Amino acid sequence: MKTIFVTGGAGFIGSALIRLLIAQTDWRIVNIDKLTYAGNLESLAGLASEPRHVFSRSDICDRAALEALFLEHRPAGVIHLAAESHVDRSIHGPGDFIDTNIGGTYTLLEAARTYWSGLAGASKSAFRFHHVSTDEVFGSLGETGLFVEDSPYQPNSPYSASKAASDHLVRAWHHTYGLPTLITNCSNNYGPCQFPEKLIPLMIHHALTGKPLPIYGKGDNVRDWLYVDDHAAALRLVFERGSVGDTYNIGGHNEKTNLEVVDTLCALLDEMQPRGDGRKYAQQKISVADRPGHDKRYAIDATKIQRELGWKPRETFESGLGKTVQWYLENESWVAHVVSGEYRRWMDQNYGDRA
Ligand code: NAD
Ligand code: TYD
Repeated sequence: MKTIFVTGGAGFIGSALIRLLIAQTDWRIVNIDKLTYAGNLESLAGLASEPRHVFSRSDICDRAALEALFLEHRPAGVIHLAAESHVDRSIHGPGDFIDTNIGGTYTLLEAARTYWSGLAGASKSAFRFHHVSTDEVFGSLGETGLFVEDSPYQPNSPYSASKAASDHLVRAWHHTYGLPTLITNCSNNYGPCQFPEKLIPLMIHHALTGKPLPIYGKGDNVRDWLYVDDHAAALRLVFERGSVGDTYNIGGHNEKTNLEVVDTLCALLDEMQPRGDGRKYAQQKISVADRPGHDKRYAIDATKIQRELGWKPRETFESGLGKTVQWYLENESWVAHVVSGEYRRWMDQNYGDRA
């Protein structure tokens, strides 16, 4: 049976990817995750006793732990998502971003290279190291234009600078050592199991609990939103069929201002779970101080992955957001456990000493 490493599999996108890979392939997935505040195995509740999902609580900065995992499991490839991922946190405390996103990626690359160098024949040529990155490495766009694969790197936040550095390391490990790498740069994701510090789950949670909906600055910053399962499908495709050494942009063709996103969410909630007092959720919106260095606009040209691999998103913004709101309404306990810290206890009970 083919074994694949997924790092960061207890996070938002990693857990969606593992659910997809378990459902669509017969692969065995070794989920390597440190379980920082953002790691939540409750997102993989359905896979707690799935034999093809093997969880290892490990830090990608720990070379010895990684080398032991490579020797034990002998994977056919790595899909690397583990990272510190929230821009606001990177502004308040960049240290963990430098350690995990740069140092951790370096350590994982070296452990993978040591293992790959010892392979021979078909297992060596078929091995892949797929690094999952963001469109934020390209910086901020003006009113027009789209990021393409060879857009210049101009990261503006500690988060995006650390991701840019990790992309460069992966590229260098391919060019210098021949490690068979792939890089994907994706736009903003949304969907089930996203930590409620990011825009969409934060707004849903605040709306439902009667809290203010904080809009940074004028709310006119633009993001290109992609439903997380569409991203997971793209990752599988690139991992299996992408050209070694290449990078692929992934995006949703869904450019929205933050105000448009929040207004759409409020309208959906008004329909699906109206406020008890008959008023509209939109009246909870407030304007707050802008994020320092706030990038104005991101937008992806995803022509290459569509042309070469036949990928395109299945969800529109409307269908994806509808599914997302529905999920949060049906899974209020998932958010409540995150907010209360209960998710830590749940992991101890259900994943025992593995967590
Ligand atoms: P997330 O914050 O939800 O999850 C990150 C996961 O990594 C968590 O489970 C955490 O425990 C784990 N982790 C953190 N540090 C670790 C370490 N040192 N060792 C092992 N595990 C560690 O992030 P996400 O939103 O799922 O993003 C996943 C990846 O996709 C990241 O690399 C991110 O840069 C990239 N990305 C995210 C988006 C987005 O919109 N969320 C868009 C494009 C790319
Ligand atoms: P976020 O989800 O943090 O993703 P990123 O910064 O990686 O794009 O934020 C998305 C956009 O929403 C970004 O322009 C900042 C804005 N934002 C708010 O206006 N209010 C909030 O409370 C949050 C978390 C984000």
